[in-house]
Amino acid sequence: MTDRLQRIGVGLLGMGVVGGGVADVLVNDAQAMTRKVGCAVELRRVLVRDTSRPRSPDLPAPMLTTEAQEVLNDEDVSIVIELLGGEEPARSYICQALQSGRHVVTANKEVMAKYGPELMAEARRSSASLRFEASVAGGIPIIAPLTRDLLANEITSIHAIINGTTNYILTRMAQDRADFSEVLREAQARGYAEADPSSDVEGTDAAYKLAILASLAFHTPVDIRKVYREGITRLQAQDFLYAQELGYAIKLLAVAARDGDSVQARVHPCFVRQDNILANVDGAFNAVEVQGNLIDRVVFHGPGAGREPTTSAVIADLIEVARSVCSGVAVSEPLGVDRTLTVADVSSLIDRYYLRLVIADRPGVLAQIAQVLGEMDISIASVIQKDADPNTGTAEIVITTHPARESAVQESLTMLEGLEVVSRVGNMIRIEEW
Ligand code: NAP
Ligand code: HSE
Repeated sequence: MTDRLQRIGVGLLGMGVVGGGVADVLVNDAQAMTRKVGCAVELRRVLVRDTSRPRSPDLPAPMLTTEAQEVLNDEDVSIVIELLGGEEPARSYICQALQSGRHVVTANKEVMAKYGPELMAEARRSSASLRFEASVAGGIPIIAPLTRDLLANEITSIHAIINGTTNYILTRMAQDRADFSEVLREAQARGYAEADPSSDVEGTDAAYKLAILASLAFHTPVDIRKVYREGITRLQAQDFLYAQELGYAIKLLAVAARDGDSVQARVHPCFVRQDNILANVDGAFNAVEVQGNLIDRVVFHGPGAGREPTTSAVIADLIEVARSVCSGVAVSEPLGVDRTLTVADVSSLIDRYYLRLVIADRPGVLAQIAQVLGEMDISIASVIQKDADPNTGTAEIVITTHPARESAVQESLTMLEGLEVVSRVGNMIRIEEW
């Protein structure tokens, strides 16, 4: 019976954490794939850097190659799955595959954030499909909802936790007082982190994902260079203690919001109220809250990184594209970007702020700090001061503000650092309330 089935050849670029999971499904769940697609889906060639490395699943040696063209020009390959990561050569391979009329499934957020609109246009020109569900939030369906199920809405904002590695680190630091480097190593061992984990901890990976989500939600190209980005490396153990005392969790949030003809897009650590759903998203889980005029708000929550969840998203895309190849009925491509909204600079943000300062422990210091903030039109909401350190003669104070303008807060921090009574600014973290 299988012999009479049409066979659809798949070429896999990359067989690491995610590629291994995808190969596993194709090799070991072939019957289920055939049932879901209506045709047999066959793994034909796999591109890797090193063919001698042991792999799971163990593939026949001739299937592995280090020559990309052997995959991209294989006449039996009609769908290419790109799981190499990074910008090049991944972008060129995706482009070449589309230009040759092959369909492409990718998990590559960097390529989709930087070149998404042009690759989607290339797919339309070549009558090929380009799918990238796995590029954002691992196993959580979010690209399909934004490009289909939520299309009736004018989306007004997205608040999201879209990096599993940093959420895992923040959770362990908050709950177990764990050490940053040690927990990062754990996240790497679990397959959550990027090949270069600085992309995770510096907020770059989340910024790529936010650029993808914002451009789909607002139908406008969002230039990745305009997405404001701060990572989690400046967070200290005492920030978690103060956050808890004040009723907040610390999360690396990705926020995109539309305001008329402009869009705000930013990734940075935030204080999030403990009763907010996003404050309770722990470990490598992700969550994306979308607000729109018809739905009010929906929240997507689930595993955001790792082999199996990401494989789930890649295989779902593969099934959709393969079903279309099998049936000969083309699937429609997502709506292109048809607006040109500007991306606002973070300096225009109005937010609340947490400021941690190390100051001289003597009378009158608080008054000097309050004067600087007052001059910058920043109103204080609360002040906490703990016991002073008799050895250094310094004390730590924490100030939270009422809503203030980012540019004024940045300027006031420079002024505070210039005061003789301020030893240093320990940290500034935005307090996100929505
Ligand atoms: P990975 O474990 O580093 O695997 C990368 C694979 O690509 C390896 O098999 C490597 O070959 C191969 N490769 C890389 N560059 C190559 C080149 N120039 N030529 C030939 N082969 C090359 O990466 P991953 O974690 O699976 O991630 C793959 C993609 O999925 C990335 O875009 C990532 O951002 C995305 N993603 C990952 C996750 C996750 O949780 N890991 C989740 C969502 C999306 P060797 O095996 O021989 O080294
Ligand atoms: N490194 C990414 C993360 C993988 O930790 O979220 C999922 O895209």
